Amino acid sequence: MSNYHIKNFPEYFHEYRKSVRNPELFWEEIAEEHFLWRKKWDNVLSWDFAKPEVKWFEGSKLNITENCIDRHLFTKGDKTAILFEPNDPKEPATHISYKELHARVNQMANVLKSKGIKKGDRVCIYLPMIPELAVSLLACARIGAIHSVVFAGFSANALATRINDSDCKMVLTSDGSYRGVKTIDLKGIVDEALESCSTVESVLVVKRIQSEINMKDGRDFWLEPLLAGASTDCEPEIMDAEDPLFILYTSGSTGKPKGMVHSTAGYMVYTAYTFKNVFQYRDSDVYWCTADIGWITGHSYIVYGPLANGATTVMFEGVPSYPDFGRFWEIVEKHKINQFYTAPTAIRALAKEGVQHVEQHDLSSIKVLGTVGEPINEEAWHWYDDNVGKKKAPIVDTWWQTETGGILITPIPFCTPTKPTYATLPFLGIQPALMDENGQEIKGNQAEGRLCIKFPWPSMARTIWGNHQRYKDTYFSAFENKYFTGDGALRDEVGYYRITGRVDDVIIVSGHNMGTAPIEDAINEHPAVAESAIVGFPHEVKGNALYGYVTLKETGESRNHDNLRKEINQMITEQIGPIAKLDKIQFTAGLPKTRSGKIMRRILRKIASNDTSNLGDTSTLLNPEVVQDIMDNVL
Ligand code: WT7
Repeated sequence: MSNYHIKNFPEYFHEYRKSVRNPELFWEEIAEEHFLWRKKWDNVLSWDFAKPEVKWFEGSKLNITENCIDRHLFTKGDKTAILFEPNDPKEPATHISYKELHARVNQMANVLKSKGIKKGDRVCIYLPMIPELAVSLLACARIGAIHSVVFAGFSANALATRINDSDCKMVLTSDGSYRGVKTIDLKGIVDEALESCSTVESVLVVKRIQSEINMKDGRDFWLEPLLAGASTDCEPEIMDAEDPLFILYTSGSTGKPKGMVHSTAGYMVYTAYTFKNVFQYRDSDVYWCTADIGWITGHSYIVYGPLANGATTVMFEGVPSYPDFGRFWEIVEKHKINQFYTAPTAIRALAKEGVQHVEQHDLSSIKVLGTVGEPINEEAWHWYDDNVGKKKAPIVDTWWQTETGGILITPIPFCTPTKPTYATLPFLGIQPALMDENGQEIKGNQAEGRLCIKFPWPSMARTIWGNHQRYKDTYFSAFENKYFTGDGALRDEVGYYRITGRVDDVIIVSGHNMGTAPIEDAINEHPAVAESAIVGFPHEVKGNALYGYVTLKETGESRNHDNLRKEINQMITEQIGPIAKLDKIQFTAGLPKTRSGKIMRRILRKIASNDTSNLGDTSTLLNPEVVQDIMDNVL
């Protein structure tokens, strides 16, 4: 029998060995004992990374919401499923029990159906961190509709691109959102986006900030009255294992965002099993992940993973700085949080404000601390360990990606001895490999290379929506018969992994995945701009910040450069969102290029990072003279 709950290091090794020797048997046992199936599978796994095609639990029938909600009703009906903490600390928190969640999801599912949403239809969700967001995901899953959540910080343009890419039939949004002292006009953004979206038939609007908004007749509907009139019963749609559960967009090295498609059964099994073990969740615990459900972390470890385990999961609407920098710790104290999961950028931002904010609060409930999204630097790791965990709560540095669906490399708390800045060991069933420049796997410990995964795991993305070729090119072409992550990593003398960062044109800013190409595309739309190149440079809070090199069409551009900088950042805000704004913009006479016309980002990266002692080989450059000029004018 497989061990669903790993409790010590020998158990980890024992199970890991099993999971690698006979993955099919390992996952079959986990799936069989801990989930509700309407029909069992005919085949545990079939795969071919050359196509690429991966299928888990083929032939099985299930509904993920039955697993996340219905099956807990008997034993945990009154337990809090979702604990909602509003932006304003004076507004009371809400506890939504499993029974209430069941009723609310079913009502929402019935509303979706009444508006014509059927199995397989795509529904775009553009909502702030309020309970309706989680309820919407689950309502889609209840009826077999494919949700596509777009983080409610993206611009109208970015929203429209995502709606159009997957032909969404409906948008779920709110009149607006709260963010600290600010409010954001979400419905206005949706209206603007929909001017260029022809597939959207209806827009359902949650009332949150009570603002005056436009409602388009026949298209827009307030959600509340519809929910009030909807039945609390909704038979779940019975899905096939490989039916898509959701699409989630992530940026890549070319302009268009990639709609990663996750399927049902494997995703459910893997997120549930990792949640249980990586956070060592016990029945009476209160778990809080501070991410937004607009990102994969929220999908897997606020909604599906925790609920599949019958956990209490916190949803926080606000920001760490409002009303002051003690807000996170106030919430930890108030709800007696046992597992706390956040990003290095948040840790660094809070550390900067001083320990007094932490010391004012009783954090003794904390058992496990988690981090995700980017490499955590040693200083931040120790600050977290000393001040939040008081050296008693193990830190799980969890490495994974939108594409992987769940955590792949991580310590298991109270099992794996932690090591600052190391994500440590592969989770059960995960077979990492480090590859050298010649495409060969580097065997043995003490190695550094490109991080690949050699064998399928249940929650891996199955394709890119509408573009399987791009899925193959991006993840399965760099190394034969392996999934390439885009990250570099090193392995120490005992086999622990440390993720060193992206080796492609993706930059992780404040834990958000930023492709350089979409930002460059946005800048290049400015009429004065000839071309541009974006690189990352180290930033004390964000991890990396964005540095833009911009060449203007007319070198004698008369406009004041600071105005132009503002305009460029304005373009980026409009095309993508404020998270993609550049910290520094340097105007250049030209960009260093290879003879084939490719911009040499390696050089630009070094200059932006003030690391010009060794620029490497510049002899292949078409225009070596621009390099000195760029160095002389660096910001
Ligand atoms: C990229 C994926 C999956 C959660 C949120 C990010 C970086 C993620 C870690 C970590 C070092 C990390 C990688 C990865 N990353 N977690 N613990 N240590 N780097 O999802 O937006 O798809 O970004 O985030 O570079 O490839 P994402």
